[in-house]
Amino acid sequence: MRSKIVAGNWKMNKNAMETATLLKEISGKLPNVKAEVMVAPAFVNLAEAVKQLKGSRISVIAQNMHFAESGAFTGEISADMLLSIGIDTAIIGHSERRAFFHETDEILAKKVVAALAKKMRVMFCFGEELNERKSGQHFTVVKNQLKNALFSLDASAWKHIILAYEPVWAIGTGETASPEQAQEMHAFIRKTIAGAYNSAIADEVSILYGGSVKPSNAAEIFSKPDVDGGLIGGASLVADDFLAIVKAI
Ligand code: PGA
Repeated sequence: MRSKIVAGNWKMNKNAMETATLLKEISGKLPNVKAEVMVAPAFVNLAEAVKQLKGSRISVIAQNMHFAESGAFTGEISADMLLSIGIDTAIIGHSERRAFFHETDEILAKKVVAALAKKMRVMFCFGEELNERKSGQHFTVVKNQLKNALFSLDASAWKHIILAYEPVWAIGTGETASPEQAQEMHAFIRKTIAGAYNSAIADEVSILYGGSVKPSNAAEIFSKPDVDGGLIGGASLVADDFLAIVKAI
């Protein structure tokens, strides 16, 4: 169902103690908003985070997962392992996974299928690079990313999908897409999904914006009709900033 979501992607930041501290700061002051609030700490800290947040309104999600059920994949984490510690949602396709760990659309499609097969929710990330936007290819790039990883799914799978449009040029750069650029792309994404499936599915999917969202720009970005929230990197590591962004929803 389409809901408002603010999610913090902590990436490779915060050790065990720092994770506990930040979670305490966030959960202690969480405003009462009509939105799902999620945090994605590092793998090693997930189990503790789940325990610490038990009974709170914050859910813990994973930054990644492998597509195989189990086996000889040194260093990887399966859907089953996540589920066994109480995590039912994984971010898949973050641009840093694509760029630094060479995760292709084909690999991501397998991860999505694997997560859905285990009844997990997928927060699927995608977005164009700077040169692609500059050369006017951003709509085509985004359409292909969606098509390659998601459009073979059954219509029924879409209720377990959350989308996060994250233009690569805006991630960690301090440069944000303007609210108008975000709205324009989110509307295009909905239109593309309506074309591939139908408008009911397109209307129901939550589409988050990610890329240098901060307290100063969150409210304006979130006010756009097709923006259902945000995936927050840097600003999610500072409790007051993340809480201000949650308030903005
Ligand atoms: P940022 O990261 O907010 O630091 O730009 C967003 C993300 O990578 O999800």
